[in-house]
Amino acid sequence: MVALPLVTAVQTWDPERYARNARFVSDLGAPVVELLAPRAGERILDLGCGDGALTEKLVGLGCRVVGVDASAAQIAAARARGLDAHVGSGEDLTFDDEFDAVFSNAALHWMKRADRVIEGVWRALAPGGRFVGEMGGDGCVATIVAALSAALARRGHDARAVNPWYFPTATEYRARLEARGFVVQSSALIPRPTALAGDVTGWLETFAESFSTALPAGERPAFLAEVQEALRPKLCDASGRWTADYVRLRFRAAKPLD
Ligand code: BEZ
Repeated sequence: MVALPLVTAVQTWDPERYARNARFVSDLGAPVVELLAPRAGERILDLGCGDGALTEKLVGLGCRVVGVDASAAQIAAARARGLDAHVGSGEDLTFDDEFDAVFSNAALHWMKRADRVIEGVWRALAPGGRFVGEMGGDGCVATIVAALSAALARRGHDARAVNPWYFPTATEYRARLEARGFVVQSSALIPRPTALAGDVTGWLETFAESFSTALPAGERPAFLAEVQEALRPKLCDASGRWTADYVRLRFRAAKPLD
């Protein structure tokens, strides 16, 4: 399998801005929680837990949940909910045989070293454990990426060098899971056009910082305005409502019993 290019990605998480522009991320997490089918008393690792909105739901169902996220600000917000949450990279998990399930919503596409993530998940799970996740899949926000790339190209930059996302096909991610020994029980690519809380600039500021920080600070407002106008005919309806072209990859895989 081809190694993914690693990029100089810059992404910061401001919990207040996240709550304003991205609450839909956890609000739309019900299908992956359903696929997880958590049972009271289970030990669950929430990988990329963000501000802990779904972690809190799993705790409410009686699970013993540990959250991990690379963002210290998001972990502080998760801890403010009273959760057991820790700063850490999903590409360097250090758990060993500790969980009945590893759960991940809308986080794995930020982790470009996918095989390292899968290896860490495998080690974190007890035999018989399961890995259930939803992430951006092949084609996710392709319209937005194209507009960002074109606007950067007009300024002499190659967006591939700063694109922070990994959106695999179902076949590719299945192959990675199976190569590590997981038995893939389900895997599907699901187009899910997603209504945004405000205009696309709020979304770009929340999720696509890596593209705009390729430019000097003074050029960023014009860059974002240009991208918004390029996207308006494609993603904004006559009433001014914006919808992003999300595609989800949702999967469930089991670590066999020894
Ligand atoms: C998400 O959080 O699901 C997401 C973030 C950035 C791009 C696409 C999807």
